[in-house]
Formats: sequence, structure tokens, C-alpha cells
Amino acid sequence: MKLNTLGIAHLFLEQRVPKGGLCIDATMGRGKDTAFLCELVGEEGRVIAFDIQQEALDSTEALLREKGLRERAELRLQSHAEMDTAAEPGSVDAVVFNFGYLPGGDHTIFTHPETSIVAIDKALTLLKDHGVVCACIYHGGDTGYEERDALLEHLKTIDPKHYTVLVTDFRNRPGDPPIAVFILKEV
Ligand SMILES: C[S@@+](CC[C@H](N)C(=O)[O-])C[C@H]1O[C@@H](n2cnc3c(N)ncnc32)[C@H](O)[C@@H]1O
Repeated sequence: MKLNTLGIAHLFLEQRVPKGGLCIDATMGRGKDTAFLCELVGEEGRVIAFDIQQEALDSTEALLREKGLRERAELRLQSHAEMDTAAEPGSVDAVVFNFGYLPGGDHTIFTHPETSIVAIDKALTLLKDHGVVCACIYHGGDTGYEERDALLEHLKTIDPKHYTVLVTDFRNRPGDPPIAVFILKEV
């Protein structure tokens, strides 16, 4: 199977998330990443997931129950811009973002740069040493390019003394393939 953005993100997450860890899914959507993180942290770990749409919580709840993972996750109907209310600074192994709209949902409700940038900055303060922020930026189509451009500019401002920012793109794939971003907290 061809490598895709999600596949690269999962490689990083597998490297950095320990059993018993704490993770945040900042854009729960249909819950695929929430479920993946629940598997990674194991029975002793915990995942806190955010979305602003009840439909996303309902889908994620159903997926986690089907997979027997419901006990490992806390689902919040809340903006990821408030994620600092959910965990202590320096306590989180990984924060995952999938920017864009709910797959199979309302395409007029999607992530916006004002809140996404606040959320990225808060995610950085929550990371443990060696923690990671994985973000997939979906762009083009109904979402447009404003958020992509604002996020890519903002990434340049992140303190290189403490974080390494890596941006990957599929240079030879047509259309607007999603962009994977990794922010590694290095000490
Ligand atoms: C591309 S989808 C996420 C896909 C998800 N990872 C999955 O596995 O299905 C983006 C999600 O972000 C949510 N969202 C938009 N603005 C948000 C915000 N400020 N805080 C949290 N979630 C938000 C949308 O409702 C949508 O469900």
C-alpha cells in the first residue's frame, strides 16, 4: 500500500507514545485517530479527545465501543483552543491534529487558523520532553488555503531551541495532498 500522510503520522506516534501514556486527539472527527491512540497507550493509558460537533462525539463513542476501547478515552465537546483545561503542562506524550472538516459531515464547519494556532501553541506547553505534535493539514476544496498558509507561517516562529519542526509534502502527487507536520520537543 502507498505511503500516505496518516501513515507517516502513525510511524512517528508509534515511536514516541509509550504504554501507559497520555495523548490528546485535538480533532476527534469520526474517531480513527482517537482509537489508534487508545491502542498505543494500552489499558493503563489515557486519551483526551476534542471536537466541537456532537456528531463527531457520537461517531467516536460508537467506534471506541465497537473496538472495546471506550474506557481509555475522555470525549470532550469543546474547542481544542481550550485544551490546556484538560492536562497539566509537561504531562502529554502526543497531540494529534487533523485540520479540515468532519469526513462525511458538514463541509461548512471546519478548523480555522485563529483557533488552530492557539491550540498548537497550547499543545506545545502540554508536551513532555520527547513528546510530539502530529498535525495533518487538509487544504484546498471546501476548506481553501487560508488555514494552511497561516499554519505554515506560524510554524516558522516556534522556538528552535526547544522544538524541531518538520513539514512533509508529497511533491509529485497531483491535487492538494494533505501536509504532515511534526513538532518534536527536544531537550
Ligand atoms: C478532518 S476532521 C478530523 C478527522 C478525525 N481525525 C478522524 O479520524 O475522523 C476535523 C475535525 O475537527 C473538528 N473541529 C473543527 N474546529 C474545531 C475546534 N476548534 N476544536 C476541536 N475540533 C474542531 C471538526 O468538527 C472535525 O470533526
